[in-house]
Amino acid sequence: MRTLRLELDPWNPDPVILGEAAGVIRHGGLVAFPTETVYGLGANALDPEAVKKIYAAKGRPSDNPLILHLSRPEQAEPLVHADERAQRLMTAFWPGPLTLVLKAKDTVPSVTRGGLETAALRMPDHPVASALIEAAGCPVAAPSANASGRPSPTDAQTVWEDLQGRVDMILDSGPVRVGIESTVVDVSAERPLLLRPGGMSREALEGFLGVPLGVPDGQSKRRSPGTRYRHYAPVISVKVWVPGTPLALEGEAPGDWAFMGLSEPPAHFGRALRFTSVENYARGLFAGFRALETAWRGIVVEWPPEKGMGLGLRDRICRAASAGKLEGQ
Ligand code: TXA
Ligand code: MG
Repeated sequence: MRTLRLELDPWNPDPVILGEAAGVIRHGGLVAFPTETVYGLGANALDPEAVKKIYAAKGRPSDNPLILHLSRPEQAEPLVHADERAQRLMTAFWPGPLTLVLKAKDTVPSVTRGGLETAALRMPDHPVASALIEAAGCPVAAPSANASGRPSPTDAQTVWEDLQGRVDMILDSGPVRVGIESTVVDVSAERPLLLRPGGMSREALEGFLGVPLGVPDGQSKRRSPGTRYRHYAPVISVKVWVPGTPLALEGEAPGDWAFMGLSEPPAHFGRALRFTSVENYARGLFAGFRALETAWRGIVVEWPPEKGMGLGLRDRICRAASAGKLEGQ
């Protein structure tokens, strides 16, 4: 398959290109597009054959459900049972990096929700994503646009490297703003559960809900199937360094390793990427993994504070550092 890569100014997207991309989605094809979190790989969420192409292009296990992307909150109504609390969350946090898991209606094909009773919805805060979904006229199912198991793409070049020849079109609107994926919250039952920390902070959600978010236990049916899989890992090893503790590199020379973090590096590394805030760290994490993995033996990654985006960042760092120990695919 020939992949068309088109540049699209995020602040003034060309309606002709958007129309073409929407046509590809309507006709059952695949379009990679920017969101505020990471690039997504989109297809018509209501067309099972189109959704199957997403799993095939990414090499993704088909029991891992997809998020349905909307351009307006009203589009949730035919798809899920949203109670008053869910509607208040949509009004308060959409568009934005919050995905809500709700009891699905029969309109959502089983393949889109990985065979679950629930469906995940989100309304991205990116002008190209909203315009594309609006023009397509259907909810757009989209996982992150990386090959399965690789760090999520934060720019179009990375999507190109992972998926060229496997998708119809890639819309290039430059680097994304948030850099890690959305926060996934299950509000399908009484107790809201934090299934995946991400771009929307836990504090903001708990402040709004007035209750702490639960976390799923290992046995729970209400969990995010995607968190079982190996994720986000660069091909070289990743070691976590907690500021204020000694660096343990097990005989390796720091000069052969790279460093990413906020603080003064604890040794003289071959390369150091330092970020001026937790938000910038999140924005640069996945791109950093990909840039550094080709040149160094490993990456030492600083353990960030838990506040705000720090929780989501910690989650991605943990997965990258323990990649070999998680279930792979
Ligand atoms: O920021 C994001 O969320 C990006 C952009 C493209 O929107 N998308 C993304 O999709 O990260 P993906 O497929 O890489 O991750 C979706 C996560 C997975 O962990 C999946 O298991 C979970 O959401 N998920 C989807 N539907 C679910 C459901 N019905 N119940 C529980 N978890 C669900
Ligand atoms: Mg992903």
